Amino acid sequence: MPLAQMAEAVLRTADGRAKTALSHEFAAQWRAAREDDARPEIGHANPPLQPARPDRPELLSPRDVPQRKPGTPEGRIALLHAVAHIELNAVDLHWDIIARFTDVKMPMGFYDDWVKAADEESKHFNLMCDCLEALDSHYGALPAHAGMWRAAEETADDFMGRLAVVPMVLEARGLDVTPGMIKIFKQAKATQAVAALETIYAEEVAHVAYGSKWFHFLCGRHDLDPKDEFHGLVRKYFHGLLKPPFNEEKRAEAGIPPDFYWPLTESA
Ligand SMILES: [Fe+2]
Ligand SMILES: [Fe+2]
Repeated sequence: MPLAQMAEAVLRTADGRAKTALSHEFAAQWRAAREDDARPEIGHANPPLQPARPDRPELLSPRDVPQRKPGTPEGRIALLHAVAHIELNAVDLHWDIIARFTDVKMPMGFYDDWVKAADEESKHFNLMCDCLEALDSHYGALPAHAGMWRAAEETADDFMGRLAVVPMVLEARGLDVTPGMIKIFKQAKATQAVAALETIYAEEVAHVAYGSKWFHFLCGRHDLDPKDEFHGLVRKYFHGLLKPPFNEEKRAEAGIPPDFYWPLTESA
């Protein structure tokens, strides 16, 4: 099956465990195909504007999602549930970029990076589900944020906008907030959650780096100034300002320099 059609099949699978199982299977097929043949077929697909999702969790506007204190067991379950929801969105976001922008010719390395990240996002979702289930909960037991696919819809026709907003803003934000989460679970001596979040934290640096790498590649192809282009696209598609504090060390490791994000903490 051409890669874009594999991507569409993941997007059209609703159940989280089934979606991520298919995602792992296709990632393995892609790796095997790349070993056999340097240029497996990418093809074209017809990705849905919104991916298939399970009936639960109920999706609510962020202001209607009940806030729970992170210092309590219920608060920690809510936090794990929120991360599981983010990871399931991330699975779809990675396959969506593969399925949606096939008209733009990209080097094979681009697809290697996105398939690898999709494979890892699938692992992250399952790690969070395992943690929830160990605490007698599950993904779908609580309501979740409805707005998470908005960035994908708004950049459905703009490949560079997608790279600017999704890996370089949203996933980079994950690098800023994950150490604080790890601390909460360490204090609670929740070793399974600590190990899972440490895996996520380590792997997310590369996802942001893939975004920066291919954003810069496309800027170079079109002779654009990457920093100016980034600022323009984030102001166009991301609603609101970026919020410090930033994890400057991990952002640097991921190829996002300070002059990319600091100016976006203030309105233009
Ligand atoms: Fe992730
Ligand atoms: Fe990620």
